[in-house]
Formats: sequence, C-alpha cells, structure tokens
Amino acid sequence: MDNLKTAIVGCGGVARVHAHAINDNTDAQLVATVDIIEQRAQRYAQKYGVEGCKPYTDYKEMLKDPTIDVVHVTAPHYLHAPMVIDALAAGKHVLTEKPLAISVEQAKDMIAAGQKSNKLFGVILQNRYNLASCEAKKVIDEGKLGKILGARAFITWYRKEEYYKDSNWKGTWDKEGGGVLIDQAIHTIDLMQWLIGDIDWVKGNIANHFHPYIEVEDVAEALIQFKNGARGLLYATNFYSYDADIILEIHGENGKIFIEKDKARIKIGDEIYTVEESQEVKEGKSYWGSSHATQIADFYNDVKNAKPHWIGPKEAKASLDIVLAIYKSKGQEIKLPLE
Ligand SMILES: NC(=O)c1ccc[n+]([C@@H]2O[C@H](COP(=O)([O-])OP(=O)(O)OC[C@H]3O[C@@H](n4cnc5c(N)ncnc54)[C@H](O)[C@@H]3O)[C@@H](O)[C@H]2O)c1
Repeated sequence: MDNLKTAIVGCGGVARVHAHAINDNTDAQLVATVDIIEQRAQRYAQKYGVEGCKPYTDYKEMLKDPTIDVVHVTAPHYLHAPMVIDALAAGKHVLTEKPLAISVEQAKDMIAAGQKSNKLFGVILQNRYNLASCEAKKVIDEGKLGKILGARAFITWYRKEEYYKDSNWKGTWDKEGGGVLIDQAIHTIDLMQWLIGDIDWVKGNIANHFHPYIEVEDVAEALIQFKNGARGLLYATNFYSYDADIILEIHGENGKIFIEKDKARIKIGDEIYTVEESQEVKEGKSYWGSSHATQIADFYNDVKNAKPHWIGPKEAKASLDIVLAIYKSKGQEIKLPLE
C-alpha cells in the first residue's frame, strides 16, 4: 500500500510538526488541509502539500473524498471526539493529537467508534517514544528496579497572557477541557502511568493563581495511588518563570530512574548510566521533543501492515482519566478507571 493519501484537520501550531513528519518520514502524500480559517488551510496546502493539495474549511467536505486514507486531527481538544468519530465512520485511518478527549463520555464514544471501524485509530503521546522513556520502560518491565515504591513528577512551565488571549479555545472548560493538567502535564502523567501500571485512586486539587483571565487551572497537585502499592506525586503549573525541564523520578527497591526532559539517569544498585536523545528537535517547540516524527512513522507502518497502533483510545484514556479525576477530586479520593 504505497503513497497513502493524507489530510490534516486544524492547521495551527502543532500541525506543522505533523506535516513535516508526513513528508520526511513516510511515503504518504499530504493531499488535503482543513481549517475554519481559510488562509491557514491554503497556506498549509501550499507549503506542505503535494501539487493539487486541496484546502477545505469544512472537514466533513474533506471526508467525502474517497481517495483520502489517513486523517490527522490537530484541532482544539473539544473537537477531537466529533472529528475522529466522523473520520472513522467515513472509512479513514485516524491519528489524533492528545488529549484523547475532554470528557469520559467523549472518550467512551471514541473507543466504541474505534471498535466499530476496521481502520486504525491512534493517539499522539509522542514522549513514550523518547529514548529515555523506552529505557525506563525496559528497566521496569525486566524487574531491575524491583518493587516500585514511588514516583514524583514536576511540570513547571510558563504560559504568558498572550498564549491564552491569542486563542479562542485555550483557557476554557468547554473547549480546552482544563488548563495545565489536560494540556501540558498530561504527557508526564501518561508516562508515569505507562511506566508504573494500573491506578487504584487519585486525589488532588487545582487552583488558578496567576492567570485571572482564564477559567481553568494554572496549578495542580495530586497523589496517584497505584494498585501495586506505589505512590505517585504530581505538581504542575504554568506560572513558573520559564519552561523548566520536566522531572519524573521513579523510585524502586533496587534503584531510581530520574528523567529530566528527554534524558534518563538510571541507578540500579551501584551501576549508574544515562540515556539521552540523540535527535535534535527540528520542527516545533523544543519542549514538544523530537518524537512526533517517530510515532507518526510508526503509525504509518502499522497502517501498511494492517496492525493496530499500540497507542489507541483505550491506552490514551488512562491519562485522561487521571486528569479528569483530579478535576473532580477537590481533595477526595476518586477511584479509577472512570466509567
Ligand atoms: N503532542 C504535543 O506535544 C503537542 C504540542 C502542541 C499541541 N498539541 C495538541 O495539538 C492540538 C492543537 O493544538 P495547537 O496548539 O496546534 O492549536 P492551535 O489553536 O494553534 O491550532 C488549532 C487549529 O485548529 C483550527 N480549527 C478550529 N476549529 C476547527 C474546525 N472546526 N475545523 C477545522 N479546523 C479548526 C484553528 O483555526 C487552528 O488553526 C491540541 O490537541 C493540542 O493539545 C500537542
């Protein structure tokens, strides 16, 4: 199955990372671009599309083109569910950006739509492909860390006023679905749960300390109680003085894994070694990392081999559940998974 034909829906900030990854790492062709702002769809079509790449303002019109095989959803959070469900119903393979959705109901509808379709449905959680994350997963799964006792994550970034003022969806409950947790911290939350395992309950609090012009939280703290007994602590904010490197530590009875941005320092007994990303971030912001292209190439390989993509909607619901449970918690224990 050569030259898969691809469309991108939502031609804003992150879409260029997808466009580059499609062009540089797959033999797919970008044949359609969609944005409600016509000039954006046109600019993306001209800059990244093949000759004849068609710009649209209505994704439902694009879905009528039977030659399009794969749809990338890079639109605001509240649109992921309807766009993914419509694209699967139209017989397209779909790769959507994180978060999976903004509510449990949406997530469940998306899982059902994926089960009904015979097409692939993947969710971008690209940091699982970082070398540091892969090494951490291997060490833990091989049992080298022993029993996992605890984990701590610190996400201390900075989002200035313009970040929210220049967007008609960021900073809102109905369109972004939350703030620092659902947008920025979800990557680290996902890594923590992927590395450690199933969760029993979550307890946390959110607040808005520094961004009075938005509805959602700019700070959150939580305790994540894993079924294997490990205790995960989380602190996330986007009112620090700069985008500091994210820290995730996993503590086991035999040692520690300390991930700082995309570098892991691993200590098992007396042995210490580091694993570091060798690729530079070529497209997009440095804190998005360099693994979008790796996950996108992997997704296209799966499409070609008719093999389900391993980060599907059920996988992606795990981190969404943690985020939604912290929103719900107000200091009370919330059992997971959310139903
Ligand atoms: N994985 C990562 O590291 C990463 C990084 C950045 C953003 N993201 C995710 O990517 C998604 C997009 O984020 P962004 O920062 O690029 O947002 P953005 O606001 O820059 O871009 C979104 C685009 O979607 C368009 N749009 C809105 N409604 C539409 C509709 N009905 N039909 C078609 N287009 C529509 C907007 O006009 C805009 O151009 C979000 O889910 C975000 O969380 C992921």
